[in-house]
Amino acid sequence: MVLQEHLTERNGSLFIEGVNSLELVREFGTPLFVTSSARVVSNYRRIHRAFSSKRTRFRIHYALKANSNLAVLRLLKREGASADCSSIPEIYFATFAGYRPEEILYSGNYNSDEELKFALESGVTINLDDGPLLNRLVRFGKPEIISFRINPGVGKGGFAGITTAGPAAKFGMREREAIAAYRTAAKLGIKRFGMHMMTGSNILDCNYFGMITGRLMKVASDVSRELGISFDFIDIGGGFGIPYGPSENELDITHTAELVVNAFEEALSSNSGIGNPELVIEPGRYIVGDSTVLLSSVTHVKRSYSTFVGCDAGMNVLLRPALYGAYHEVLIANAMTRRAKSRVNITGQICENTDIIARNRMLASARSGDILAILNAGAYGFSMGSRYNGRPLAAEVMIIGGRAELTREREGFAEMLSRQRVPPSLL
Ligand code: LLP
Repeated sequence: MVLQEHLTERNGSLFIEGVNSLELVREFGTPLFVTSSARVVSNYRRIHRAFSSKRTRFRIHYALKANSNLAVLRLLKREGASADCSSIPEIYFATFAGYRPEEILYSGNYNSDEELKFALESGVTINLDDGPLLNRLVRFGKPEIISFRINPGVGKGGFAGITTAGPAAKFGMREREAIAAYRTAAKLGIKRFGMHMMTGSNILDCNYFGMITGRLMKVASDVSRELGISFDFIDIGGGFGIPYGPSENELDITHTAELVVNAFEEALSSNSGIGNPELVIEPGRYIVGDSTVLLSSVTHVKRSYSTFVGCDAGMNVLLRPALYGAYHEVLIANAMTRRAKSRVNITGQICENTDIIARNRMLASARSGDILAILNAGAYGFSMGSRYNGRPLAAEVMIIGGRAELTREREGFAEMLSRQRVPPSLL
């Protein structure tokens, strides 16, 4: 297989941005997420260049939910990114990492009053998932600018579980509800507006992005005609996919940007009422997905009805295969040239039969003590991890300029107990 630019094989071992993965394991243990800062930066610059070369009024809000490690947030801040936050803690993380309120977009859903109040008081731009949420929000004050999330009636995604628009999706509003929502906002005296959608994740088809942008622009155009309002920004969301499996091809990001910008600008030229909005995208996966390798120790190999290669990175560390049947490439980091011999199941140590990293996968024969490298674990990897079965959260390392920096310590057992209180009567 062809390795990504930051991964190399030397004397049979995997090197990540020039650093020997086996030394990282010796120093930091497993399971360990190792992120190449160079790859994060090159992904960011590639997608930024693709769009900004076609439209200068353009901004990237990095979707923190994919990976909110502070080192990643700092790196992207330095590159000029803004932030897309889905919760109050994510606003807190972004702020802590140095993002200013005007650089933060908050897209929650089914928000509580406390969340609406916090968002308003923190001065971030608020994107609402439903019109009536505005009435609840303004009880705490009038925002400078408001955005609404549109569900354009169609969606797409790498799996059904990550398709986030269409009639069955829990997100966004139809055009008629959107018109009512913007009308209410205008009546309340709000003068600046945004519009947003997020229709699905891990999409590798460039034409889809052009098509769906056209759909959103039609809604923006109808809203502006009906109500005489213009837009400061129009946000088409994230969803830019990466290849995980051997049969998948890279998304042609240059062509994607061209199709999106064409659809965007065509709508602006046919309805000047929309104004000259900033084009916003919210990629998560595209920027961090392939930047990170998850290193895991093989703990035991069992040969029974089939062969199970057990390792210390199960669904508690990387949930995607268990949750969606997602594919992640797996290599043996200490024996890269060992030939693939037979089909095995790669599993973790969790007491669930869905605890799977790879099913029926061709792998060289693995033995306990080998180190597995699970690729493309940078997006929705650590961020979806759990403490199930009492297992602590994994550690994270970032390679910066050829040096490994620990960016998140492995959780300790005492820390896991630290928030619990035993009632005195039970002592
Ligand atoms: N903006 C909003 C409002 C979102 O809900 C999401 C992702 C993004 C941006 C970033 O999407 P991306 O560019 O990463 O596709 N856990 C799933 C992915 C769920 C995506 C949810 N929303 C997975 O592991 O594949």
